[in-house]
Amino acid sequence: MKIDISYSDRVGFLRTLKQENKSIASARSMHYTRLGSTGMQISRICLGTMSFGNSEEWMVEIEKARPIVNRALDLGVNFFDTANVYSKGRSEEIVGELLKDHRDDVVIATKVRLSTGEGPNNEGLSKYHIMDQVKKSLKRLGTDRIDLYQTHRWDYSTPIEETMLTLNDLVRQGTVNYLGTSSMFAWQFAKALAASDFLGIARFVSMQNHYNLCYREEEREMIPFCKDQGTALIPWSPLARGFLTGRYKRGGKVDTARYRSDKYFAERFFKPEDFDVVERAEEIAKEKGVTVSQIALAWMLHKGVCAPIIGATRVEHLEDAVSSLEVKLSSDDMKRLEEPYKPHRIIGPLPIPEPAS
Ligand SMILES: NC(=O)c1ccc[n+]([C@@H]2O[C@H](COP(=O)([O-])OP(=O)(O)OC[C@H]3O[C@@H](n4cnc5c(N)ncnc54)[C@H](OP(=O)(O)O)[C@@H]3O)[C@@H](O)[C@H]2O)c1
Repeated sequence: MKIDISYSDRVGFLRTLKQENKSIASARSMHYTRLGSTGMQISRICLGTMSFGNSEEWMVEIEKARPIVNRALDLGVNFFDTANVYSKGRSEEIVGELLKDHRDDVVIATKVRLSTGEGPNNEGLSKYHIMDQVKKSLKRLGTDRIDLYQTHRWDYSTPIEETMLTLNDLVRQGTVNYLGTSSMFAWQFAKALAASDFLGIARFVSMQNHYNLCYREEEREMIPFCKDQGTALIPWSPLARGFLTGRYKRGGKVDTARYRSDKYFAERFFKPEDFDVVERAEEIAKEKGVTVSQIALAWMLHKGVCAPIIGATRVEHLEDAVSSLEVKLSSDDMKRLEEPYKPHRIIGPLPIPEPAS
C-alpha cells in the first residue's frame, strides 16, 4: 500500500492508526543484535536521552519523558543512552527513575569526559575525574552498574594508558560491564585499542559517532576501521537533529524550539546540499509510503550500523523510528539516497589543541 502524506499530516496519521489498534510500530517485533563482538544483545533502535532534562527549551522533563520510555519498553527497546553532562545530570536521574522497575531487562549506557564544573579536574579522562564521575552517575541512575560506560571525546592531556587502566578497574570490579567511546579521530581510536591490547585489558567495544545521510565523513576512516575491529557502530543524531525528517523545507520559515535553542543545529545543517539529500529521501519515502525519518534510519541500518541512537521528544518520534526496522531499501534506493551528498567539514572529534607558544 502506498500512502502519500505531508509531514503535517503524519502525526495525526500515526495517531489514527494507533486508535484503530493498528499502529505500524506495535504490529512489528523488535530486532536485536549483539553489541559488536560482545555477547550482550541490544535492540536495533537505541533511545537517546539528551532530550530529557531542562537545560534548553527543546528538552522535555520527566512527565513528558515517561510515556516515551514506556512506549519504548512496550516496543522492545532495551538500549538507552545518556551522559553525566546532559542537563547537568538531570537526564541520568530521569533515566534512572523511569527504568528502575526494569533494571535487569535494559542496557544503560552513559558517558564521562566533558566538563562538569569549574576547576582543572572537573573534566577529562584522568583516574581522578573518572572515579569521581562514575560514583555520581551510579547515584543519579539509581543502579549498581553501568552496562556501557563511554568516554565522551578524546582527552589530549591524559595518557590513554591511565584512562584505559582506570576503566579496566571499573570492569574488573563489576561497576561497568563494557567500555565504549564517542567521536574522535580514527588514529586516536586505533591508539586506544592498541594500548588496551598491549596491556592485555578491556578494550572499547563500541563507537558512538556522528553519522547520518547528511553527514558521512565517518565513511572515510572510522567506519571501515570499526568494522575491521568488530566495534559496534551506534551513531548519534541519526536524523541530523530533526533535519532528516522532512519537516524543514528549503526556503521555508524555521521556528521550532530545537532550532531556536540547540546551538549546533542551525550551523550544522540547512545548507543547499543538505536540502538536496533530504529532498531525495522525501522522494523515496513517497514512493514507499513511509516517512522521511524512516528512510533516513533504514538507510543507516542497511549500512551495517548496530543501533542508531535516536532522539525523541514525543512518543510518535519513537514509534516512527521503530517502524524504520521494517523498511527495505534496494541497492538502487541506496545509490539514489547517497548520490546528492557533498563532503562536509569535520563534526564530532575535538580538534587538536594549538601548541603553547
Ligand atoms: N556522543 C555525543 O557526542 C552525542 C551528541 C549528540 C547526541 N548524542 C546522543 O544521540 C541522541 C540523539 O540525538 P538527537 O536528538 O540529535 O537525534 P536525532 O534522532 O537526529 O534527532 C531527534 C529529533 O528529531 C526530531 N524527530 C525525530 N523523529 C521525528 C519524526 N518522526 N517526525 C518529526 N521530527 C522527528 C525531534 O525533534 P523535535 O524535538 O524538535 O521535535 C527529535 O527530538 C541523544 O539523545 C544522545 O543520546 C550523543
